[in-house]
Amino acid sequence: MAISPVLDLKEDILRLKKERNAVILAHNYQIGAIQDIADYVGDSLGLAYRAQETDADVIAFCGVHFMAETAKILNPNKTVVLPDKDAGCSLEQACPADKLEAYLAEHKDRNYYVIAYINCSAGVKALCDVICTSGNAPKIVNQAPKDRPILFVPDANLGQWVIEQTGRKMDLWQGSCYVHVEFTRESIQKIKDEYPDAKVIAHPECTKAVRLLADEVCSTEKMVHFCRESTSENIIVVTESGMLHRIQKEVPEKNLIPGPTDHCACADCRYMKMNTLEKLRACLENLSPQVELPEEVRAKAEISLLRMLEQSK
Ligand code: 13P
Ligand code: SF4
Repeated sequence: MAISPVLDLKEDILRLKKERNAVILAHNYQIGAIQDIADYVGDSLGLAYRAQETDADVIAFCGVHFMAETAKILNPNKTVVLPDKDAGCSLEQACPADKLEAYLAEHKDRNYYVIAYINCSAGVKALCDVICTSGNAPKIVNQAPKDRPILFVPDANLGQWVIEQTGRKMDLWQGSCYVHVEFTRESIQKIKDEYPDAKVIAHPECTKAVRLLADEVCSTEKMVHFCRESTSENIIVVTESGMLHRIQKEVPEKNLIPGPTDHCACADCRYMKMNTLEKLRACLENLSPQVELPEEVRAKAEISLLRMLEQSK
């Protein structure tokens, strides 16, 4: 019987993983084949904890660049490779470090406490006081000093949701995720009308108009927990399409319906989908591309990341 090329590819990846003493970490939005071969699949928070805990020599990070960078910030002496170094993020692009630095210099008198959503560069992490993810944002904001104004970067939608959750006032950087803002009140109402008994789960990067239609607004990992606990058979999942693979594996009995946009039956993040099994094999084989960071930036970024991991426990 002929062996299929996909099987060869998977065998190569597993062999290289062993030879390199590597761990494969994957975000919930990765293609199914990558999720299935990974050692751990999760949200940004879970992935940061896994990266912190690992004793592997090499971390092969299947997600987007800022996530692999986070693993490197926490592991300066490990080799961190990623399948495609061009896998960026529209939120990261919305808040370049030089712009944030200039803004903080211009508003020095405000003495901002800066909270950065993890979807940002190491340069931005180095400029802020603490990091948060969608999985812990209200918890982190609640621990911010009461006597300083908060600047929240870069996602204005997530920031608005956190204000609603915590009652804390925050100045918001006006960035957004190009994928999640594609969901509209009309597109989600339409699918709700088709499945009137369905529960709706939405990521906090969605606009308020969409969040208002959701039964639960949460991080990707918490979506898995919600589906496990829910008694509803039909669940509308308003986030990137890779999430459905992860939830379906964990709760096969549920009927998952992708949240549609105005033009598409589901939403894909073009950056997350740049990663393939071929590129994963290549990065393990060549140990390239690697994440490299100036030590000064890494060390400063580590302070805000460790503060988050500590405050998030
Ligand atoms: P999570 O941390 O909830 O997985 O979100 C990451 C992300 O990029 C959402 O677009
Ligand atoms: Fe960035 Fe949005 Fe893609 Fe998440 S889905 S990685 S926030 S562009």
